[in-house]
Amino acid sequence: MTYREKKDLINVLSATRYFISNQEEIQKRRLIRLQEETKRKKENLLCGIAFNYHDSSVSFALNNKILLVLEAERMFRKKKKRCDSEEMEELILYGLNLLDKDVDDISYWALETLRNPWLEEKDTYPNPPVWRDINIFGSHRKSLIVNHHFSHACVYLFSSFDKATIFTCDGGGDKGERITIYEGDGLNLIKQGIDVDGFITAKPYDLCATYLYNSPMCEGKLMALAAYGTPQKKYVEKLEELLPILCTTNYENGDIVLSKSFPGLKGKASLLNTETCDFSASLQDVFVRHRVEDTKKIAETFKNKNLVLAGGGCLNIEANTEIWNTHNYDEM
Ligand SMILES: [Fe+2]
Repeated sequence: MTYREKKDLINVLSATRYFISNQEEIQKRRLIRLQEETKRKKENLLCGIAFNYHDSSVSFALNNKILLVLEAERMFRKKKKRCDSEEMEELILYGLNLLDKDVDDISYWALETLRNPWLEEKDTYPNPPVWRDINIFGSHRKSLIVNHHFSHACVYLFSSFDKATIFTCDGGGDKGERITIYEGDGLNLIKQGIDVDGFITAKPYDLCATYLYNSPMCEGKLMALAAYGTPQKKYVEKLEELLPILCTTNYENGDIVLSKSFPGLKGKASLLNTETCDFSASLQDVFVRHRVEDTKKIAETFKNKNLVLAGGGCLNIEANTEIWNTHNYDEM
């Protein structure tokens, strides 16, 4: 073999080795890309957002496993915190940082409707939920839009039930909605068209607490205060009479109505006197009785043996206990 032939051979071998190593590098990169894609397909990072009135929050899940729930009031150290758009982005980024992820790692978004500034008016009450491309962090992101009471009703999905009647009650959702009934069947939730006009909502509790404490969202405090009082006929009868108004009216009108009917009680909760305690106990009595009656109507209409209570109105322990003791539900 001549020198020239040897050199040519070396050149060919070098070229082949380069080709092979280059191919290996390409293959390796392809493999990594494939692994990442596979990983992305298998592991959908989900982000759920709720602005609401007084309890903004963000949650993250990997497929069906909840990874993290951030309550704005804890993060911003302000009770009853409601985020604006910038604060919500801050909360999301804080969560992503904890999870060592970034915005583009999120596969799907779920946006709850109540007071959500990222939604157009037409999307503020979807029923059932709808998919939309929503501008989040400067890009269009695939987002499921979920109305407030549907979101409450989805608590059912955390229960052990295959089927259940779901009864939501709160002080106010989208477009003033305060009571809904859903039938849960497997993963499906179907809203029921039952007339709930005469049902008690959590609004009277909200208005009376606001009146008694002269501060909004004091329902929990009033529920505790009620334990120190005794229901009084004069308060019970007046509250019963006012229920149709108190179930639906706004704060301004509620304050006027309550000031006329219960003069002298406004802002007096801190006195812890007989009047404020008895007034609270009377409201509690009215609320519990109506909740039990309303649940009876639900039980008569829907023959399901399982009941799910959801929404702020279902944080009333005494009402829930009475419902449990009164009805023949297998499970609640
Ligand atoms: Fe609610």
